[in-house]
Amino acid sequence: MPHYFDEVPDVASRPGTIRLRLADLAADLVSDRGVFSATRLDPGTAALLEAGASATSEHDLEGNLLDLGCGYGPVACTVAHRNPRATVWALDVNRRALELTGRNALRLGLTNVVTSTPEEVPQAVFFEGIWSNPPIRIGKPALQELLRTWLDRLADTGTARLVVARNLGADSLAGWLELQGFRVDRYASKRGYRLLAVRNGGNPAAVGAS
Ligand SMILES: C[S@@+](CC[C@H](N)C(=O)[O-])C[C@H]1O[C@@H](n2cnc3c(N)ncnc32)[C@H](O)[C@@H]1O
Repeated sequence: MPHYFDEVPDVASRPGTIRLRLADLAADLVSDRGVFSATRLDPGTAALLEAGASATSEHDLEGNLLDLGCGYGPVACTVAHRNPRATVWALDVNRRALELTGRNALRLGLTNVVTSTPEEVPQAVFFEGIWSNPPIRIGKPALQELLRTWLDRLADTGTARLVVARNLGADSLAGWLELQGFRVDRYASKRGYRLLAVRNGGNPAAVGAS
C-alpha cells in the first residue's frame, strides 16, 4: 500500500496547486500525488501556521530552524518567510516532497530554505526552532524515535512546535515527551488539534533528561 512517507512514491505525478492563505502570507504552492495532503492545506498544518502569524516569538529568528517532515513545503516556506535571516532545513524522506518544497521556495523567492534528507543534515547543526506536523502514521515506536532524534538537536534556547490531532494521541504524546525530560505547553487547541510547545529543561528526574 502506498504511503505519503515512501521514499519514492510509485503513484504517477499529477501536480496541482494549493492556496496558502495566512494573515501574513498568501501564496500558491505546487503539490502532487504521493505526498501528504496533496490536494488541500491540512487543517492541522493550517492551525500550526495560523497560530504563528501573530506570535512575535515565531518571527525574525536567526540561525538554523527545522521543518521536520516538510511534505510539499507549507511549513518550511512560511517559516522561511517569517524568519528571512534564518536557514530553514526542510527535511523529508519522500524525494518528491523534497523536490516540491525546493520548487515552492524558489517560486516564492525564498533563498533560505535547504531541502535535505535526514542523513544529510550535518551533526553539528542545532536548531533554534523546530516546527512539525509529525508523521503519526509511521507508528508509535518510529515516531518516538524520530522525535527523540530531532528534539535532541533543539538548542537550549529553542522551542519546538508540534501539531497533533487529539484523536491521534496528542495528549499521550505530550505525556511521553514530558517523561523524556522536555517541558511541554499545550498552547492552543483548534479544530480537534493540539499545538504543543516543547522545550528543554523539564523534569530533571525524567528518563533522558540531562
Ligand atoms: C503529516 S506530514 C506533514 C507534511 C507537511 N509538513 C504538511 O504539513 O503538509 C509528515 C511528513 O513527515 C515525513 N516523514 C516521515 N518519516 C520521516 C522521517 N523519518 N524523517 C523526516 N520526515 C519524515 C513524511 O514523508 C511527511 O511528508
